[in-house]
Formats: sequence, C-alpha cells, structure tokens
Amino acid sequence: MNRFYRVVFLLAGALQLAAPLCAQPSDPRALTHREDPKMQAFVDELMGRMTLEEKIGQLNLLAVGFDVTGPVVSKDVDANIRRGNVGGVFNTYTPAAARQLQEQALKATRLKIPLLLGFDVVHGHRTMFPMPLGLAATWDMQAVEQSARIAAEEASADGLHWVFSPMVDIARDPRWGRVVEGAGEDPYLGSCVAAAMVRGYQGPDNDLAQPNTVMACVKHFALYGAAEAGRDYNTVDMSRQRMYNEYLPPYKAAIEAGAGSVMSSFNDINGIPATANRWLLTDLLRRQWSFRGFVATDYNAVNELTAHGLGDEQRAATLALRAGVDMDMVGEAFLKYLADNLKKGLVSPAEIDQACRRMLEAKYRLGLFRDPYRGISDKRAHQTMGRPEFVAASRDIARRSLVLLKNERQTLPLRKAGTIALIGPLARSQRDMLGSWKAAGDWQQAVSLEQGLRNVAGSAVKLMYAQGANLTADRRLFDQLNAGGELTFDVRPAEELIREAVQVASQADVIVAAVGESAGMTGEATSRADIGLPGRQLALLKALKATGKPLVLVLMNGRPLTLTWEDENADAILETWFAGSQGGNAIADVLFGAYNPAGKITMTFPRVLGQVPIYYSHKNTGRPALGDQNDKYKSSYLDVPNAPLYPFGFGLSYTTFTYGKPTLSKATIGPAETLTVTVTVQNTGNADGEEVAQLYLRDLVGSISRPVKELKGFQKVLLKRGERKTLTFRLSVDDLKFYNDDLQFVAEPGAFQVFVGGNSRDVQAADFTLE
Ligand code: BGC
Repeated sequence: MNRFYRVVFLLAGALQLAAPLCAQPSDPRALTHREDPKMQAFVDELMGRMTLEEKIGQLNLLAVGFDVTGPVVSKDVDANIRRGNVGGVFNTYTPAAARQLQEQALKATRLKIPLLLGFDVVHGHRTMFPMPLGLAATWDMQAVEQSARIAAEEASADGLHWVFSPMVDIARDPRWGRVVEGAGEDPYLGSCVAAAMVRGYQGPDNDLAQPNTVMACVKHFALYGAAEAGRDYNTVDMSRQRMYNEYLPPYKAAIEAGAGSVMSSFNDINGIPATANRWLLTDLLRRQWSFRGFVATDYNAVNELTAHGLGDEQRAATLALRAGVDMDMVGEAFLKYLADNLKKGLVSPAEIDQACRRMLEAKYRLGLFRDPYRGISDKRAHQTMGRPEFVAASRDIARRSLVLLKNERQTLPLRKAGTIALIGPLARSQRDMLGSWKAAGDWQQAVSLEQGLRNVAGSAVKLMYAQGANLTADRRLFDQLNAGGELTFDVRPAEELIREAVQVASQADVIVAAVGESAGMTGEATSRADIGLPGRQLALLKALKATGKPLVLVLMNGRPLTLTWEDENADAILETWFAGSQGGNAIADVLFGAYNPAGKITMTFPRVLGQVPIYYSHKNTGRPALGDQNDKYKSSYLDVPNAPLYPFGFGLSYTTFTYGKPTLSKATIGPAETLTVTVTVQNTGNADGEEVAQLYLRDLVGSISRPVKELKGFQKVLLKRGERKTLTFRLSVDDLKFYNDDLQFVAEPGAFQVFVGGNSRDVQAADFTLE
C-alpha cells in the first residue's frame, strides 16, 4: 500500500464507529425521542393554529427534478408549496436547490412550516459504496455503518434530511431485481445490517438535531421481497409464522435502532395491500412494535390501491389514512380527497391530526423549526463531498464486499507481470460500477475495472482489451438499460466480436473476463426470468476457454446468477457486485493480492433456476433427501441435486482456514443460563487473511417444524499466516426463541444443535439441551 493510501485508510479507520458487532435485540435509544414534552408542547401549539387544509398539506410528498422513478410525475410543485399543499419534496439536492425550496415554504406560507427534503440515498450519496447486497457480503457491521455515516455526512451537507434507506426486505428469489438493494436472505444478518445502517444515518447518538444526520426510512414495509415468482410488485401470500420468524425481523431491528420513518410497500399481503393494511401499519408496527415515527407510502401507492381492486382513489385515500399512512408519496390522493372524506365522515379529524402530528414531530426532531436550512452552505458542501477519507473508505469497503467464488491452482492473485487480456462488456464501464440508485454519484468519477488494473499494476503489466460481446443481444433493451451511460452497442455480428476477443486472448498470459449484468438490469422493475449471463456472454466465455489460457471471471451483477458452466470451467471467479466509486481500484487490489478477499455471499446461488426459491434455512420436511442424489419419494428433484452451487455464507480466501470442533460450556442449560460456544480457527495457508466464522442453530424438537439451520452469530477475525484464535460465542435463551403457532415468542425445551464453520454448508456440530 503506498503512503497516501496508508494515511487515508488510517483516517478512515478513525471515522469508524465503536459499534457492537450486531444489533442488540432491544435498543433503549429507540424510545428516547418519544416522550419529549417540549416537542409535544411545540406541536400542540402549532397544530392549534393550523387549518384543515394546512394539516392535509403536511401529508403530501412531491417529487421534483430528474430521475423520476414512477409512472406519475408531480406537477406545479412550486405553486403547491406556496399554497401550503406540500409537507415534503424529494429527488433534488444541493444547498442551492434545498434553500430555494425551503424559502418558498418559509416566505409564502402562512405558518412557515419547513419542508422535509428526501432522496434515495441507498448506498452512498456522492461517494458511492457497493450496492447493499455487496455491503452485506462484507459481514462487517462497522463497515456498513461507516458507509451510511459517510452517506449521511454528504447528503445532509447537500440539503437533504431524509433518506429512503435502509431497504431491509428479505429476498430469496434472485429473479427479483431488487435483491441487490437489500442484505439478502437471512433475517439475523439482515437485522444486523438494518440496525447498522440506521445508526450510520441517524448518527451514533440517534440525535437527529445534529445537522450531519439524516432520518432513515425503513422500506419496503412489508414483505416486498417475497413477491410471487420474483416478479416486481407482485402478490405476497405468507403464513404469519413465516412472516414473524423469517421476514419481519430486519424491519423490527431497524425500528428498534431508532429509525424515524417507514415506507409502506407496493405489494399486497394476504389480500390486503400494505398501503391499506391496518393490521400491518397500526397493529403490528405501532401497537406491537411501539413505532412512533411516521409512515410514508411508496411512489403513488395510495392511487395504486385502485388497480389492486380496492376501489376508486377517494376510497383509497380513506383506506390508507385509516390503515396508518401519514404521508402520501406523489399520488396526491390525500390532498385531493381527505377534506371531502372528512366532510362525508369517512375519516375523522383525529385521524388527520394524528398523521399531521407525526410529520411535524419528524421535522421537530430534525431541528427544522430551529434552523430550516440545517447549516447548509456551499462551503460546507465543498468541504464535505468526496473527502479523501470518504474515497479511501469507499475503496476499502468495496474490497471487503468482493467474494472469491473459485480459485483453482492459485490462479489468483495475478502476478504483476506479463500480458493480461481484459475482455468483456463491463471491463470499461464506469456507469455500471455505481449500480442502481446512484443518488448524486457521478459515474464519470467512478473507476472502471480497466482503470483500476492500470492504477494498481502500472506499467508492469501489458493490458490488451476487447469487448467480446454486448451486455445483451437485445438492442432495444440495451439502449433502455444503458440510458445515460457510456457503453455503446457494438453492431457487428456476435461471432465477429467473439473472434476478435479470442484473437486478443491468445496473445496474453491470462484472461480477465468482466461479465455480468448492467446496473440497469438490477434494482427496481428489473425482474429476470432467466438468471444466467445475459446475451452472448456465455458463448464468449466458452470461446475464451478454448484458447487454453487461464480464465479469470470478474462478475458484476446484482443477484445470484446460475453459473454452473462458469464454475466448472473458469479457473477463478470473483464476485464484485456493483462496487461503487472506487470499484475498479478495489477489484484490482484483490486481483493483484494487495487485499486478501474475505467477503461471503448472503444469498444462496442456485445451480439452475428451477431450484428457486432456494435458501439455507429451509425446513427438513417429512421426507428429507439424503445427500445430493435424487432419491425417489424423498423431497428432491429428478434432474438436479437439492444442493445449491454456492451456499449462503460461502466465500474463499487466498489462504485457508481450519476449524476445530466447537465445544460447549454445558450439555444442558436452564432458561436463565447462557451457553458459551468456543471454537478454534487457524489460518493454515500462506497469507494473512480475514475469516467470517458463522454460528448456526437447529432446534431439533418443537411445537412447529423449525429450519435445519439458522444463523445466530458471526465474527469476522483477522488471522496472520499460521495464527490460531479461539473464538467465543454466547447464546442466551432469547437466541433460542421463535414465534410459535400462536405467535408467542418462546423457547421450547428439548434438544438443540449448534454448528460453527466458514459457511452454512461446511460446519461442525455440537449438541445441547434446553431444560
Ligand atoms: C421505490 C422506492 C423508492 C421510491 C422513491 C419507488 O418506486 O420502490 O424504493 O424509495 O420509488 O424514489
């Protein structure tokens, strides 16, 4: 590492926050803002002066500017602000834009209530970090928190108060393009990530009055990731047991970490759309979980209740408000209909007051009534955006997010010598490096893979390049997905592109193939029914393989892909997701061995799409299949094994780690006791490296059938070459609890198994009993 980077990494380290490895189940800070008598008095007094129209105006959220994500666009935003019809605005930033909007509200409206300014800051604001699925693959909660903290520093200096993040939807179907926006398939890890992001955005003290914080918005509440067939916006139908045990924990963890707001999701849940779902938004969220922030809808979701079949927009406005929605995003149904609905007795004054109160409380907590500008200035923005330590953190966190899926005969790390053939449609892309929801990230500042290889290897390596294939063979789709990007569609016949690439490859010592999906193929509205490499990329890889040169795949993609051929034939595979502003440098650091990869996947990679949904924490069934063989009259397939290609938690390193058998402090524990699990992990290879030791649990006997394994703890440890460490995990009875058939959270006596290992498949077990 050169001196510059050592210094900036040290600075970045200083920015890291002293956070626990994972969320505590109940964080007392979550409740602190609620009983603030000064806030209550302030809001009471203000509401006492408000007209009905002014109250309804507070519930209206409009979108301005560019990057419109939905089918509807807000019109006459400025005029509506001046009329007092707007509580918040999103999709614009910069101190000047924020000031201009805020001034309209302050100068033209009677009560001068400041606007709430929001934006989709999902994985960085100006300095971009890996997509959330990559962030989760770090298994490093300090890194996750740090990325959100930096995003908050930049976003708040850019005039924003509110970010539409974290996205905590559990996702087990890689056809759904939005899996890239969340932490993957596991409720425990997902909860840790959710809490870390909230802490990062709202600051270590959860004090939103600090001008360098932003309010988090937990989304998409709820169960959006369980859309049928992985098709975006689709129906969700799920048992309450599965909901409580597997899908709800990350939302709950984010709320317990103090998240100030929640976004209702587009999907329906057992027949009732989330945005009209009173059980969800009131009984569960507020009564059971004591949430006291505000609920905003997703984009136009109130109006979409009509398409869901719940009636016209006027009725939709009633249903949403009465369900517990406080703020209506873009569709303006509240603005249009609530006053009339009140006249007709369909909603009550108290219901409107309650929603208005929650909006005003959020603004109060953010300090907007004291300083509606929250200390923004061009100077502050200039001093904040893209600071060297932020850029260094982005590179460091990106390196941590990369997952080595295969490495035969030590193909990696590459030597800094000889000739590399850099092939593939993503090799030169800067735009794709940022992924979807790039916020204010400037892709022209992003480091492409090619640039990263040059930066890290310098002139020691000769780089030759060929595109080899287009990202997709469908020209129209290509143009749509690459909108605003820099890639061009090569119109030559596919075979000619492949021939050219082979010709380049045959002159090199090693091939690095940058293949995958474009950023535009992932994120919202990007479901895919085939999750192999798109277009002619597989044909390209087959031709490259035939050259006999070592073949290294650098994958850029936003979901698990089916990679059976690739796994059998490539010499090395590095999963890089969309790694952010510093992506190319981070990938090159790993390829050349300046950083030893330690990321682990947080979604199972299937062999073939027909295995989906596939996740490690499945039930045993009454006829469990033994081993990988298909087994007649067992729960298996005729044509493929049950086992995935890469299991949850899997990722290799340039070194190897060996685990001892876990030992338990006791064979039997009582309900008030803690079980200590110790395990030794040794670095048995030739390089220093980090390992994510994972602890899983199985409840062998219960009143309902329980998963074959559930993650209950993890530790990321650095082990020097040859070094051995003893790790200690503690399990309390709370860790053994689950929601039973009556939805009571209980631990049931009986036999348990605990497993420890480097991924969810390769583990060693020990047994204990709960008395
Ligand atoms: C997405 C949300 C996003 C919102 C605002 C919606 O289409 O589902 O995730 O926060 O738009 O841009």
